[in-house]
Amino acid sequence: MEKFIIKGGRRLCGEVEISGAKNAAVAIIPAVILSDEPCILENVPNISDVSISLRILYEMGADVQFLSSNTVRIDATGITEPIVPYEMAKHMRASYYFLGTLLGKFKRARVAVPGGCYLGDRPIDQHLKAFASLGAACTLDHGMIDIQTENLIGSQIYFDMVTVGATINTMLAAVKATGMTVIENAAREPHIVDLANFLNSMGANIMGAGTDVIKIKGVKSLKGATYAIIPDQIEAGTFMVAAAATKGDVLIKNIIPKHLESITAKLEKIGVNAEEFDDSIRISVDGPLVKTTVKTMPHPGFPTDMQPQISTLLCLAEGTSIVTEGIFDNRFRYVDELRRMGADISVDGKVAVIEGVPELMGAPVTAPDLRAGAALVIAGLAAKGVTEIEDIYHIERGYENFEEKLRGLGADIVKKSVPGSSTVRKAAL
Ligand code: EPU
Repeated sequence: MEKFIIKGGRRLCGEVEISGAKNAAVAIIPAVILSDEPCILENVPNISDVSISLRILYEMGADVQFLSSNTVRIDATGITEPIVPYEMAKHMRASYYFLGTLLGKFKRARVAVPGGCYLGDRPIDQHLKAFASLGAACTLDHGMIDIQTENLIGSQIYFDMVTVGATINTMLAAVKATGMTVIENAAREPHIVDLANFLNSMGANIMGAGTDVIKIKGVKSLKGATYAIIPDQIEAGTFMVAAAATKGDVLIKNIIPKHLESITAKLEKIGVNAEEFDDSIRISVDGPLVKTTVKTMPHPGFPTDMQPQISTLLCLAEGTSIVTEGIFDNRFRYVDELRRMGADISVDGKVAVIEGVPELMGAPVTAPDLRAGAALVIAGLAAKGVTEIEDIYHIERGYENFEEKLRGLGADIVKKSVPGSSTVRKAAL
C-alpha cells in the first residue's frame, strides 16, 4: 500500500493538463461491446477504474491494445460469455454498466453486484426497473445479478430520481432494442452526452442527450468508431480548488469551460478569480476567501463529486459556510480527517456547517473515498507542516498522475510505499 506525504504551504503556480473523464470512460469502454467491429478510444485516462474496465473486457475475451499511453484499441467481437465475476466487479461501481451493454448485445448478462466508493446506500432499483421495462427479467443469485430476455422492446421509462448510472445503463441496453425507448427525468451530465455521441458515431440513433428526455431509436447493428473522450470536469474542478486553497495562480488546460460553470460561479462567490479561455481556465487569488452556501445537485447544479473539495476550501474562508449534500446519504466521511487538521466543521445529516479558520495544520489522515481523498490532498497542500495520507488507492481510481501533476505546479508531494502493509487491494485491481 502507498501513501502521499505532503509538505504544505506552497502556492501552486503554472499550467496543468486535464485528462479524459473517468465517468465517461467507464461508460464508453463497456459500450464497445455493442460494436461489431474494433473501436479506438482516445484521451483515455490512465487510472485504476479504467484499468479494471479494460481488464474485465480482456478477461471476457476482448483484444485490448494500447496504441499510446492514452489511446486504446478494443476488439470486443471475441466475447461470447456475458459474465462479469465478483472478483472483477467488486471494486468498481461502474461495473454495473456491463449489465446494460451485455444485455444490449447478448440479451442476457450475469454481473456481480457492484462495489465502488461508499457514499451511503446506493441502490440500483432504477436500473433494474428500466431493464424490466425493456422486457428483461432480473434475479439476484449469490451476489450475481442475472438478467435475460428473448427480445428487448423499446419502452417509456420515467426515473423516480435523476440518476446518472440508470440513464447510462438504459441507453446501453436500449440502443439495439426493437423500436423507440424514451427516458424521462434523465440525467444531463456531460458524460451522458459523451456516451450518446460515441454510440451515435457507431451508428446508434440517440436524440436529446443533455436534456431530461432522451429518445433512443433502436438500430440493428453498430460499427466501429474512433472517439476521443471528453476532459474530466471533476479533475479540472479539483485543480481549480487546489489552486484557490493555496492562493496560487494556475492555468488549467484541456477543459470545456461550459462543463465547469457551476464550479466557476461558486469559486467566484468565494473570492477566487476565474478567467475563462476557449479550452482553459486561469485560477488565481488576490484577496480574502469568504463564506458561501453550496448545495449539490444533478447537472447543471453543483456536482456532488466536488463537495469534499469545495468544503475543504471553505474551511479556509472567512465566516460560516453551509454545505448541503443533495445526492448521497453519507458523503461527509472525510470531515473527521479534516478536523484532525484543525478544521472547524459540524455535520448534521446532509448538512455541514463550516467555520472558517486562518490555517490548517498537517496531520496523518486516511482517504475514505475518491473525492474525499482528493480533498485531503488539497487540505495537505494548503496546510502548515506535513500531511500523510493513507489509502491513496481511492484517489488513484480517478486521478491520472495526480502527484506528478501537482509537483509540476510546485507542490511538495511524494508517494511512498508503506512497508509490511497489505497489497491485497492493489492485487485485486
Ligand atoms: N439512486 C437510487 N436508485 C438507483 C440509482 C440511483 O436510489 O437505481 C440514487 C442514488 O442512491 C443517489 C442518486 O440516486 O442518491 C444519484 O445516483 P446516481 O445513479 O446518479 O449515481 P451513480 O451512477 O451511482 C455516478 C458517478 C458518481 C457520481 C454520481 C452523481 C459513475 C461511475 N459514478 O454515480 O461518481 O457521484 O453519478 O453524479 O459515473 C465519483 O466519480 O467520485 C463518483 C462517486
